[in-house]
Amino acid sequence: MKLEALPSIKGKYNMEDYNEAVSSFDWKEAEKNFSWHETGKMNMAYETIDRHAEGDRKNKVALYYKDGSRNEKYTFREMKELTNKAANVLKSQGDIEKGDRVFIFMPRSPELYFSLLGALKIGAIVGPLFEAFMEGAVRDRLEDSEAKAIITTPELLERIPVNELPQLEHIFVVGDKVEEDGVHIDFMKHFANASRSFSIEWLERDDGLVLHYTSGSTGKPKGVLHVQEAMVQHYQTAKWVLDLREDDVYWCTADPGWVTGTSYGIFGPWLTGATSVIVGGRFSPEAWYQTLEEYGVTVWYSAPTAFRMLMGAGDELVKKYDLSSLRHVLSVGEPLNPEVIRWGMKVFHHRIHDTWWMTETGGQMICNYPTLEIRPGSMGKPFPGVEAAIVDDQGNELPANRMGNLALKKGWPSMMNTIWNNEQKYESYFMPNGWYVSGDSAYKDEDGYYWFQGRIDDVIMTSGERVGPFEVESKLVEHPSVAEAGVIGKPDPVRGEIIKAFIALREGYEATDELKEEIRQHVKKGLSAHAAPREIEFKDKLPKTRSGKIMRRVLKAWELDLPTGDLSTMEE
Ligand code: PRX
Repeated sequence: MKLEALPSIKGKYNMEDYNEAVSSFDWKEAEKNFSWHETGKMNMAYETIDRHAEGDRKNKVALYYKDGSRNEKYTFREMKELTNKAANVLKSQGDIEKGDRVFIFMPRSPELYFSLLGALKIGAIVGPLFEAFMEGAVRDRLEDSEAKAIITTPELLERIPVNELPQLEHIFVVGDKVEEDGVHIDFMKHFANASRSFSIEWLERDDGLVLHYTSGSTGKPKGVLHVQEAMVQHYQTAKWVLDLREDDVYWCTADPGWVTGTSYGIFGPWLTGATSVIVGGRFSPEAWYQTLEEYGVTVWYSAPTAFRMLMGAGDELVKKYDLSSLRHVLSVGEPLNPEVIRWGMKVFHHRIHDTWWMTETGGQMICNYPTLEIRPGSMGKPFPGVEAAIVDDQGNELPANRMGNLALKKGWPSMMNTIWNNEQKYESYFMPNGWYVSGDSAYKDEDGYYWFQGRIDDVIMTSGERVGPFEVESKLVEHPSVAEAGVIGKPDPVRGEIIKAFIALREGYEATDELKEEIRQHVKKGLSAHAAPREIEFKDKLPKTRSGKIMRRVLKAWELDLPTGDLSTMEE
């Protein structure tokens, strides 16, 4: 189906400008948006908050926050003072210094943002953790990164196995009346008394910023480290892809536990001085539409699963809300179905703009610009200054319309700096001739639009969240009844994929529905709800290679009724 003409958007960029930008764009020039391009001394927290607080935006609202019990707003000047207070608490009570890893493990609240930015003001590397993580997931991340401190809430305390983490010196608890014992520190008590001024630590471009743990198809989650200079990309993409302008009210629905929630929930929008809406609590179609209406959101960044869930809630519901403030809608995380774009045009009167990137790339890579002609189903074109290609397994570029590895040429500012404590893993992302390999397969059409085809590895994308099958399998086999487990992503109309586990039971266990539920709960409690298999199937035996590796591709073929392919390495 052909889409109608683009609603006129008076953006800075149209197709011609895009082509021009691609040919002349230079990251070094883009750096000149920042005063540090001369001094080389920078700090993300200064550029996102203090710079505006010291200038014309001081009384502009930086943050609107709402959840079931709170409804608050903070100007850039207030944000500066409150993040200074947080920095003072972390420094004076926790002795936090430049380069220390400080984790943030709590539901979205203003304090999450104050403390995250406060930690950055000290020069610490922040590690945001999604509040749904359970003990095993928390332990793996704190252990691997040798975190010195964590900021959390009383409800989540029991998931932090402090006795098993010798490097973890301080637990800042954000709650009322916290008992202090040398390890636990009452964050709010000290926050109330802390000074509103703080002298920011000036950093270099390759000093650490944020550590996001993400999953691959093998091994435990790996710590993707981003550094200060990533801000050049966050800023430029917030301008050109999110199209943020002075009077915008912007809402990114992602949690800071995921990269979208930091790069585009904190850094990008505040680097441009935009007003951000942050909402706590669970997803509900009513609450989401209400948020759009109440704040007059103009730019909205969300994910396909959320759009599909809204679509599932029906067109009558959306008509009850005044969403006329919307100007620009974007999506990331999974393939955006053309059907969802068509629905978006009908109910929001806007095209949903797909953007493609990854935790490792730190910022948007391939996108639909506000004024680029959208081809529904395509991720768009590379951002200026980003060189992308489709390459074969040897790194040779393939011609148009041939499917292959989606690869990128290193050299954009928000590229990960390393994998924490694992340089070898970092190196493994690159082909001998230098291409960074994304793990996605795609093709490029004659006009340079990229079309996503799937993951090449076994990584599962469920509701936009990246889950490594190995991590789930490891958790499954910890259950006393499980002898072997193989985990795959099974296509699902709403969630993109759901997690399905095939399990061979140990002798003496009976394959019952109760046992399935018990195993599900085991993963949910040990890792997190989103990693728990929605479907479990018991099998007598699982397909394995002779070296004992579970053949997930065979499980997937069985599940989807596809040919199983080469079985020569399979054991008898
Ligand atoms: O498979 C691609 C998918 O999400 C992967 C990256 O996941 P993560 O690091 O968790 O980051 C998600 C948010 C930045 C990619 O390798 N993906 C991301 N965006 C898209 C996508 N798949 C299809 N279309 C997209 N727009």
